[in-house]
Amino acid sequence: MTSPIRTERHDDVMVIISDNPPVNALGAAVRQGLAAAITEGLDDDAIAAMVIRCDGRTFFAGADITEFGKPMQEPGLPTVVDMIEASSKPVVAAIHGTALGGGCEVTLGCHYRVATPSAKIGTPEVKLGLLPGAGGTQRIPRIAGVALALEMTAKGDPISAKKALDAGLVDRIVGEDTLAEDAIAFAREMAEHRPLPRASEKIAKPDPDAVAAFRKENARRFRGFEAPAANIACVEKAADGSSFADGIAFERSEFMRLMSGTQSAAQRHLFFAERQAAKVDDVPTDVKLRPINKVGVIGAGTMGGGIAMNFLSAGVPVTIVEMQQEALDRGAGVIRKNYEATAAKGRMKPEQVEAAMGALTPTLDFAALAECDLVIEAVYENMDVKKDIFTKLDTLCKPGAILASNTSYLNVDEIAACTKRPEDVVGMHFFSPANVMKLLEVVRGEKTGPDVLATVMALAKKIKKVAVVAGVTYGFIGNRMLMPRQVEAMKLLMEGATPEQIDKVHVAFGMPMGPFQMSDLAGVDIGWHRDPTRIESIRDALAAEGRWGQKTGKGFYDYDEKRQPTPSPRVAEIVADFRAKTGTPQHEITDQEIVERTLYPMVNEGALILEEGKAQRASDVDVVWIYGYGWPVYRGGPMFWAQSEGYDKVVAGLEKHGFAVAESLRDGTIK
Ligand code: 3HC
Repeated sequence: MTSPIRTERHDDVMVIISDNPPVNALGAAVRQGLAAAITEGLDDDAIAAMVIRCDGRTFFAGADITEFGKPMQEPGLPTVVDMIEASSKPVVAAIHGTALGGGCEVTLGCHYRVATPSAKIGTPEVKLGLLPGAGGTQRIPRIAGVALALEMTAKGDPISAKKALDAGLVDRIVGEDTLAEDAIAFAREMAEHRPLPRASEKIAKPDPDAVAAFRKENARRFRGFEAPAANIACVEKAADGSSFADGIAFERSEFMRLMSGTQSAAQRHLFFAERQAAKVDDVPTDVKLRPINKVGVIGAGTMGGGIAMNFLSAGVPVTIVEMQQEALDRGAGVIRKNYEATAAKGRMKPEQVEAAMGALTPTLDFAALAECDLVIEAVYENMDVKKDIFTKLDTLCKPGAILASNTSYLNVDEIAACTKRPEDVVGMHFFSPANVMKLLEVVRGEKTGPDVLATVMALAKKIKKVAVVAGVTYGFIGNRMLMPRQVEAMKLLMEGATPEQIDKVHVAFGMPMGPFQMSDLAGVDIGWHRDPTRIESIRDALAAEGRWGQKTGKGFYDYDEKRQPTPSPRVAEIVADFRAKTGTPQHEITDQEIVERTLYPMVNEGALILEEGKAQRASDVDVVWIYGYGWPVYRGGPMFWAQSEGYDKVVAGLEKHGFAVAESLRDGTIK
């Protein structure tokens, strides 16, 4: 097998080049090649300096994650990095694309680093539930200081080449298109400089204030995660006067601890699940995509406006249609306000705001949609209204236009059937706020064309969404799984639990909110029959009293002016009244019972969805719940969680409470 590493000689400079597509991951063959090349350079008297660079789209994007959990093949990455640093001849890293994780650590082992202006450098291991395990936690603070090391390791976001230059993590920014030559020239310039700068020999100054402030600022973000604390501890160790060797030993033991834990397994699962979700099993990868240069959105409410923003931000012009001028103006105004708020936080330039707004055409004229390549209907959930819209779109839109509905529950096949082109119809279920939430459920109708599906999946990537394909079923993947949870939460309430107790269990589990907090946020009146005299459920009783949730200042909780919830005595009365009226037997409800009755049924529903072929794979279900509903990342999604809990335990829990258990869950064949 040919090595992914080759060497080239440019007079007295040897260039070590990696060619390991797609992202030059540092797998065993790359590590072996790198070690051999360094030895080659050291053994050759004609060589005065070395350069390490990568072919393809990026510098090493990290260790090869597919090797994790398998027996380690020598040499390990820490050994290779140490070898580079120990070289008696200068080694220069030539960085383009993204030098991430182990890739960043390779650069830190090098004596010098040059980078293109667009390069990014970072240690995202924390996002995989890990820490930089090849000396990163010890070398970054020694070069760039504790504060930046904390940002880079415990948060995991990459920094720009410019920021790296300012911090000493890069020595020179070179030409975007002349990296190879510029790196050689730089190596030659440094060939005779001694002593060689070695990160391990530097001293990091302790910065307890920075550590304390960092912990405090990020407490919410890190809630429930193990890896950030381990990253922080390693960075602290780098600056507490310990020797480099002791720091490395600590880093290694923390790395191994995290690697063998469930959280990292869950986070690595998500990394691949997210990428897998983009693949549609029975659609050829070379299917011809339809060009999408102009998008139409029907409805300028919260959903329509949010949807429009995705495309505007990606530079795709949007025509947004409303029925009334006032609603149209309000919608466009909200879009502008949102962009301006982003700009005020420094995350957008004023000219970008104007460019986005300039690409928006608000109109009352439905006929303006005739020119659009994709039209997304985002009006309220009513089948007759949607059918009416799609009938109109069918006569109006140009041939080949994709007609999408942002329905969250309704039957896309029924909507498609009122057009003469059901192959052009698809569901695009965005999650609120649609400009923020990463999930897009792409609902594949019975007749949706493969090219339509592939086009929408590609478009999702362009607008930075994580798309998951769902089949036609009430509520698709996410909302269908939500239903049994809500039903059980109400039953638990009737049997003796309080909203606070049930929500607390969900929050402790790692969800952003529990079922009742979610009802209050979404609106208790959603789906209400609107007859205050007809009180058949606790929800009816709440809705009849105007307890519609946060928007009316009261729902399952009472809210103050800052929308802080407190348990509601009135709700307790209503619940007590219902319990008495229905004669529901009361019992002490434990937190474990809440888990078994609200979370296990979700897993069961997920298994049924998979059995019915309404989701492609179990990991897609996990992606939906993580990106659409805030399922804790470190639990890997409901299906991964069930597997790590043990299917037997979940089945036993479901049976104890009388649920009909899905076959694939019972026999552990969920895929
Ligand atoms: N190992 C193995 N495979 C990887 C990989 C890695 N580190 N990084 C990416 N890939 C694979 C992806 O799974 C994907 O495979 P597929 O085509 O079969 O689905 C392919 O490479 C392309 O990846 P993306 O679709 O993500 O490509 P993008 O261009 O969108 O993004 C990227 C490129 C920014 C490099 C992104 O892939 C990324 O963030 N990768 C992970 C970086 C990372 O986490 N590095 C740290 C690894 S842990 C480590 O280094 C430990 C060390 O400290 C000891």
